[in-house]
Amino acid sequence: MEFERLSSIPTRTPRRFNSKQNGSKVNVALVGLGYWGPNLLRALFELPDVEVSYICDLDPDRLERFGRRYPSARPTRDFENLLADPHVDAVIIATPVFSHFGLASRALQSGKHVFVEKPLASTSAEAGELLELADSMDRAIMCGHTFLYSPAVREVKRIIQSGDLGEIYFISSSRVNLGLHQRDVSVVWDLGPHDFSILLYWMDEMPEWVGAVGRDSVVKGIPDVAFIDLGFPSGALSHIELSWLAPSKLRRTVVVGSQKMVVYDDSSSEPVRVFDSGVEYEDPETFGQYQLSYRTGDILSPKLDTTEPIITELTDFVQGVRQGVAPAGNPTLARNVVHLIEAAESSIEERGVPVQIDSPVAHTAR
Ligand SMILES: NC(=O)c1ccc[n+]([C@@H]2O[C@H](COP(=O)([O-])OP(=O)(O)OC[C@H]3O[C@@H](n4cnc5c(N)ncnc54)[C@H](O)[C@@H]3O)[C@@H](O)[C@H]2O)c1
Repeated sequence: MEFERLSSIPTRTPRRFNSKQNGSKVNVALVGLGYWGPNLLRALFELPDVEVSYICDLDPDRLERFGRRYPSARPTRDFENLLADPHVDAVIIATPVFSHFGLASRALQSGKHVFVEKPLASTSAEAGELLELADSMDRAIMCGHTFLYSPAVREVKRIIQSGDLGEIYFISSSRVNLGLHQRDVSVVWDLGPHDFSILLYWMDEMPEWVGAVGRDSVVKGIPDVAFIDLGFPSGALSHIELSWLAPSKLRRTVVVGSQKMVVYDDSSSEPVRVFDSGVEYEDPETFGQYQLSYRTGDILSPKLDTTEPIITELTDFVQGVRQGVAPAGNPTLARNVVHLIEAAESSIEERGVPVQIDSPVAHTAR
């Protein structure tokens, strides 16, 4: 899978940088062994051309637990230890959002390639700085937008690109469940990156405006529900519901086009269903007598690849490091995701007043 194909949002030009010798393993260090880090660790150990030489966490109990499970990886509480080791090619960061910029910039300054979990940074200015630093150090930077490697998400992208859906009228999405309440970030920072990254990938354009409302129902100061609207230059609209307060888990997105409609339901045994349904408007022969014809045709459920997104995602990163090809596309998309989160948060503070997206900044190809 090539990064460049992940998005046609303006991307960085793929460049060559210090490549690994063919045949040698890519040596990585994983930082952060909380909820998500262990998933990355397990996936890294499944990749044949990767050696995990360090695991790092501030919490000694977690270090001890995962040190026992993966004895070949050296446990350390001090991030600087793994930066100082010249054998470490790449650092994979799965720590809380507020720490991404500090850790990723230190790793890039130390000459390491960097994979940072989503969202790339806690401000778009920091995200932009990371991209510039990676450029100036000639190192790869990639953000863990895992859903872009989901076979279902990729299939919907293929269908949209094929033109089968016609003009995209709107996309509505619900990503809700009970918990896990984050202590430091709102539901927009926690769950928003998934929908924003998918939308940018599917739509290939940056929204012009974002409006959002939300509330901190349980923990004051940390919004746990948000309703976000986005408007795209093409005229497409999107509505995203994000919440940690729902009786059951729902991950459902509906894409409505002028020709067909798609339901992407991540928790279904048929995650993608294409409905040959629509409404046709027939011009009136005489004033005021227009006709609408409703069409409900076949429902198709395409067969999907069963590859695990986290494995494909890390394979892409590792191959980028190995082959010396910078992962174009992903960093710019990741920075745009942070722009959208900031816009949604500002709009929530203003009780839903739409925020214009500064598209020249967001779209600047590098
Ligand atoms: N791609 C996905 O689908 C996905 C899913 C869940 C979480 N995430 C992302 O993964 C990241 C981590 O989330 P989480 O839920 O695992 O958080 P968490 O709080 O459960 O774990 C974070 C871990 O990082 C450690 N840590 C913090 N600062 C550190 C430092 N300076 N040096 C070393 N260790 C440090 C903490 O001790 C903790 O063990 C977040 O960016 C989150 O958005 C991604």
